Amino acid sequence: MHLKAFAKKSTRSTTLAAAITLVAGSLLTSAANLWAATPITVKFAHVVAENTPKGKAALRFQELMHERLGDKVKVEVYPNSQLFGDDKVLEAMLLGDVQIAAPSLSKFQKYTKQLQIFDLPFLFKDMAAVDRFQQGPVGQKLLTSLERKGLMGLGYIHNGMKHLSAYDPIRVPADAAGKKFRIQTSDVLAAQFEAVDAVPLKKPFSEVFTLLQTRAIDGTENPWTNIYSKKFFEVQPYITETNHGLLDYMVVTSARFWKKLPDEVRTEMKKAMDEAIAYGNQVAREQEEKDRQLIIDSGVTQVISIGEQERALWVEAMRPVWKEFEKEIGADVIQAALDANQP
Ligand code: LMR
Repeated sequence: MHLKAFAKKSTRSTTLAAAITLVAGSLLTSAANLWAATPITVKFAHVVAENTPKGKAALRFQELMHERLGDKVKVEVYPNSQLFGDDKVLEAMLLGDVQIAAPSLSKFQKYTKQLQIFDLPFLFKDMAAVDRFQQGPVGQKLLTSLERKGLMGLGYIHNGMKHLSAYDPIRVPADAAGKKFRIQTSDVLAAQFEAVDAVPLKKPFSEVFTLLQTRAIDGTENPWTNIYSKKFFEVQPYITETNHGLLDYMVVTSARFWKKLPDEVRTEMKKAMDEAIAYGNQVAREQEEKDRQLIIDSGVTQVISIGEQERALWVEAMRPVWKEFEKEIGADVIQAALDANQP
């Protein structure tokens, strides 16, 4: 090309490039301004009381987000099933009606079978073992097990080990036979109660107190903080300290919502959530014992401890449930959980 013509063409393309840069730049700026002007609303819905590990973690998350991002992001926390119960919350999340939830790990079976691992009775030795498993490679991989369904796991919050409560004293499996127990929406939990000839009934958490009060059910399984904060102990004369299973949570969000967030908001949100989860887990460690003691001190319910021999009867009756669900969960996942029992 002639030198003059080349110079003219290259000036034209430089001007064009500059114009494109200008337009793109101003589009970005206006997107950023729009973001700055329109706060992002994040609804965090859960079903427990505010004075529980999950309730406190949710409030800490709200506080941290406000501290760090001011009015740019508005976190609204809805406790006590005020916005959605766990039966609806994940569908609502996929529709964009709620952005964060932390259902118990027993509530995901419609979305993935692998999380059923957490419901297997007498699997984890204690909460330290649960922690090792959740933080290890298999537990971390399980956080991604909902991705095909459009959900993302952001972390685990502890509550604690479950105990049986009832209208009659329960010491051995035969004492539970024929009794109706409210359970969460989990087939593993149903199988666990059927293994001792009890009758499991899947019911929402928000209905448990009334079901107990009206004696529509005989008992439940719950960790101390739920029994205390929802006053179940006031309508259950006996609690058997079985430590037979786990009630923990997965904090989830919709992948669509998460990916659409501005990068800096997503980064801050993840950081705030990690800190809120760590705080919730510390609360879980401390509050379990406190709430247990408050229940004992109330004098309205009797806490029954079981000895090694009685415990062995429960283990023997419930352990076959593992085999029943091994294929859905994966033998390798079960093995990883068992390995976590060894520090
Ligand atoms: C239940 O339904 O019993 C639990 O999932 C409630 C909770 O969130 O602890």
